[in-house]
Amino acid sequence: MSRTLTLALSKGRILDETLPLLARCGIEPAEDPEASRKLIIGTNREDVRLLIVRASDVPTYVEHGGADLGVAGRDVLLEHGGEGLYDPVDLGIARCRLMVAGPPDAELNGTRPRVATKFVRLARQHFAAQGRQAEIIKLYGSMELAPLVGMADLIVDLVDTGNTLRANGLAPLEPITEISARLVVNKASGKIHHRRIGALVDDLAAAVAEAD
Ligand code: ADP
Ligand code: PRP
Ligand code: MG
Repeated sequence: MSRTLTLALSKGRILDETLPLLARCGIEPAEDPEASRKLIIGTNREDVRLLIVRASDVPTYVEHGGADLGVAGRDVLLEHGGEGLYDPVDLGIARCRLMVAGPPDAELNGTRPRVATKFVRLARQHFAAQGRQAEIIKLYGSMELAPLVGMADLIVDLVDTGNTLRANGLAPLEPITEISARLVVNKASGKIHHRRIGALVDDLAAAVAEAD
């Protein structure tokens, strides 16, 4: 029996949208990962198990070999810096946009705006690429709050329907990049388990094409 392949996923939309793709590849979790408190979940395939981790930890688990594969948003991968990873398949799930947002009347080209975000690296890159100075304020969530309490002029955050921005009196101001979730593979695992991981990558790519 060959070693188990471990796939890192995060609870919430990544798990919700990945499970149907895995089902199309014939992989079903042995129990409901959303309901279970277990962090390692077996599947109907003896050689595949799921690891439940924080969304932003997926690249770290895969890079350091805690998992052979993972599913992570392109935002998380870009912010992490994906040097140690292959990302063979765009799964086309968890689609959204990374944007600059703020009060509708915000001065986009103001001098050195204070920008609240959890995407420090991406925000810095975006403003630097345009030769604009910005003071980046690191937050871990609820970025929309920062302009409301006068702590920031702008935010850099993910936007899908725009409901969260609207509900807080903010507006999308400037797109940065399109986001969807990707399959990532540990480079060493990809070589050692070339045949099995290759087959899984092909099956997932086919499942994505079928879903489109
Ligand atoms: P977290 O707890 O880190 O916010 P989420 O489950 O909310 O984790 O997000 C996981 C990934 O899903 C993000 O990295 C991003 O790629 C994508 N995502 C986040 N928010 C949205 C959204 N509102 N609509 C669609 N995709 C999203
Ligand atoms: C994400 C993101 C925005 C919101 C955008 O938050 O950080 O706040 O979705 O989606 P919308 O444009 O459709 O409103 P999420 O729902 O993941 O909440 P959390 O990360 O703060 O838990
Ligand atoms: Mg979220």
